Amino acid sequence: MIRTYRVDARSVSTTRKKLEWQFRPRDRKSFVVGILVFQAAVLVGAEMLVDTWLRHEFVFAPVVADRLFVFRISIAFCVFMLTGMILYLASRRYRDTLEQANSELAREVSKQVSSGLAKRNALIFGLAKLADYRDTDTGAHLERIGLYARVLADAMRPNHPGIDAKWIDRIVLASSLHDIGKVGIPDSILLKPGRLTPEERSVMEKHTLIGADTLLAIRAKLGADDFIDMGVEIALQHHEKWDGTGYPFGLHDTEISLAARIVALADFYDAVTSKRVYKEAMSHEEASKLIREQRGKHFDPEVADAFVANEREFNTIRAHNQHEDVNSLRIMDLEDIARRFIDEQAQVRYTKAA
Ligand SMILES: [Fe+2]
Ligand SMILES: [Fe+2]
Repeated sequence: MIRTYRVDARSVSTTRKKLEWQFRPRDRKSFVVGILVFQAAVLVGAEMLVDTWLRHEFVFAPVVADRLFVFRISIAFCVFMLTGMILYLASRRYRDTLEQANSELAREVSKQVSSGLAKRNALIFGLAKLADYRDTDTGAHLERIGLYARVLADAMRPNHPGIDAKWIDRIVLASSLHDIGKVGIPDSILLKPGRLTPEERSVMEKHTLIGADTLLAIRAKLGADDFIDMGVEIALQHHEKWDGTGYPFGLHDTEISLAARIVALADFYDAVTSKRVYKEAMSHEEASKLIREQRGKHFDPEVADAFVANEREFNTIRAHNQHEDVNSLRIMDLEDIARRFIDEQAQVRYTKAA
């Protein structure tokens, strides 16, 4: 599918108008006619000059009369050389202006595309955060998962040519979409403090399919896109397990996408080390022990090894992003954010009025 980006025409209009004015077909024709008239005028003028020269017997008139043919040829040669030079300079100027216009246009297109992508990513992250608020305490779960995913992807980069800086940026953001499908799960199941019944569990497991379906609906509107594609893989496969005992499809080892294998571990670590309404937080050491035990079972051995090699970093991220009194901090945070927004708006109104 071809994706189109709308570029603000006003920002490139100066160069475009300049080009239009200089190089419209009508102007090009006028230019060529002008050159021909110029050549004819110079030649006629030179002929009249020679004629006057000879008639009045100016200095070197006999020499000119003896070599009249050579003299005329020389004048014509000079005129053609001059014309050639003018044409060369004009074409160079045209090329320079065209190159300048092209690079301005390319700069403007890339600026508009990145600004459009940033807006889209911010909106999608906002949606993911909205879904995340339903069962986590602060919504910071998504930020932490992104940070854990970055650590794992960085560690695995040397063995995976497909992992580059762009891929890592993509997984950091796309990881936020893993549980977007939870918006479709009833509170009575999502927030149930005790164990889920088999029926409730099967409803809960549908969040992978709902999430993928939601993102596929966005993809149908926006067109194919690496970020959305990765988001779909993560939403659909982040509960698949390396040994094939996961859901929704029971995929195993590399049938599961690399991004989903990384997010599976990041999500697991964050879920077990975070407090929920229905459970207490586990310590880093306990979580680490579980992950080591699940190497090659729940988790891709390579991803588990990347965790073991970087678990101090995981512990630091966890420690810097946990809040002791989650509920009161959440309300304080929200009030603080809202108050800051109102202050900013008041400041803007005051500046406009001044
Ligand atoms: Fe999930
Ligand atoms: Fe999660």
